[in-house]
Amino acid sequence: MIRLDDVWRIFTVGDAEVHALKGVTLAIERGEHVALVGPSGSGKSTLLHILGCLDRPTRGRYTLEGREVGALSEAERSLIRRNRIGFVFQFFHLLARLPALGNVELPMLFAGVTAEERRERAARTLAAVGLSHRAHHRPDQLSGGERQRVAIARAVVMEPAVLLADEPTGNLDRAAASEVMELLEGMNARGLTLVVVTHDPAIAARARRVVRLSDGEIQGSGVRGPGSGHDTTPTGTRTTVPDPRLGGG
Ligand SMILES: Nc1ncnc2c1ncn2[C@@H]1O[C@H](COP(=O)(O)OP(=O)(O)OP(=O)(O)O)[C@@H](O)[C@H]1O
Ligand SMILES: [Mg+2]
Repeated sequence: MIRLDDVWRIFTVGDAEVHALKGVTLAIERGEHVALVGPSGSGKSTLLHILGCLDRPTRGRYTLEGREVGALSEAERSLIRRNRIGFVFQFFHLLARLPALGNVELPMLFAGVTAEERRERAARTLAAVGLSHRAHHRPDQLSGGERQRVAIARAVVMEPAVLLADEPTGNLDRAAASEVMELLEGMNARGLTLVVVTHDPAIAARARRVVRLSDGEIQGSGVRGPGSGHDTTPTGTRTTVPDPRLGGG
């Protein structure tokens, strides 16, 4: 569902150029769970921003669900962001003045969903992340793990096809991190495509495929062998965890 063909991202700072991505070619199939790893500054967030239509490649092609999104207008890209893509960040990015329920309602507000339906869907999604009892708490009245679960509810309330998470557990202790990952994995088992940037080897090892970036380049091809189900990335990790898509979740 995601194809990047020779994607470059070059930032200009003053009269210097930063080559953040240098010819990235990557394919991610529907329902995959991919961990994106690599040293600080290797281009992980830059890549995630391009995948999320928050940024465009300087060169190269990005195709999402068969559409070349790099070539679309800003209005069309914003529709794709709203309807097809969910984002989760390390520092949650919740609105401090709104309770959990209000935060989860926000994307539907922008999408013009009626107040009644917003409330109903937000409540249902909060229940799905186990936070019905915290619906009226503001972010400062929630634990870190709870905040991230609210952020996840907000990210999935529009039922996106793909969830992009940039260090979603980076600010959490081990127990909360594990809870957040279990939640994301459950959604992945029900068909959500999941791309998780992480520095934590334990979090990366939970993915079915690890894509490694180094200095703006993918180590190995980043493209799966046709139909093999095997990782062609030499540095990739295949875990022994059974395919959740086969287990019925
Ligand atoms: N808006 C920008 N303007 C100029 N340079 C940028 C910009 N954003 C990122 N860069 C540079 O591009 C490179 C890749 O940055 P990126 O944020 O993608 O790294 P990262 O892998 O996410 O790192 P980290 O693990 O520290 O979050 C870095 O050298 C960074 O300084
Ligand atoms: Mg980053």
